[in-house]
Amino acid sequence: MNIRELCREDLPALRILEDRCFSDAWSDALLEDLLSSEYDRCRVLEDGEKIIGYVNVRVLGDEAELMRICILPEYRGQGLSGGLLERGMEDMIRCGAKAATLEVRAGNLPAVRLYEAHGFVLEGYRKNYYRDPKEDAAIYWNHDLPGGRS
Ligand SMILES: CC(C)(COP(=O)(O)OP(=O)(O)OC[C@H]1O[C@@H](n2cnc3c(N)ncnc32)[C@H](O)[C@@H]1OP(=O)(O)O)[C@@H](O)C(=O)NCCC(=O)NCCS
Repeated sequence: MNIRELCREDLPALRILEDRCFSDAWSDALLEDLLSSEYDRCRVLEDGEKIIGYVNVRVLGDEAELMRICILPEYRGQGLSGGLLERGMEDMIRCGAKAATLEVRAGNLPAVRLYEAHGFVLEGYRKNYYRDPKEDAAIYWNHDLPGGRS
């Protein structure tokens, strides 16, 4: 397994990941924008030549947001997401973030466990934030990224 920066040739694989991993899959245009955005950092996880996961973080000033993390369904449950999240958090820190936030479906237990294992703390909910199905968003923060406290 290898984690590396996203490049243009990866866009077809990202399309597959989005369609298979998210009910609110991003458009091709949004994925394309990731390549040129000055605020976004993306990394892909490869099993040999096959891309099996990706992470996208966005850094604005000294705050970062975890926008996306996913692993193809057939590769889940093997602890692969931790390494990917850690690389995303390294990107946050390298880009100057002192704190990081994310929102997640409150009932998404694998994601919640992943985030809590990496220092993210539940700070509140947005009621009925998600649709299809309707569900609360849980808001997490990590104020202890190495390098500072915001
Ligand atoms: C969230 C996601 C990236 C986790 O990837 P993964 O590689 O399967 O996760 P891991 O194997 O590292 O497991 C993460 C934690 O969830 C737990 N877990 C895994 N599957 C679980 C399940 N079905 N129910 C409850 N907990 C589960 C693991 O035990 C682990 O917790 P632990 O460290 O306390 O033991 C993956 O499920 C995914 O791609 N989901 C769809 C996209 C998504 O929801 N992304 C997050 C929102 S952006």
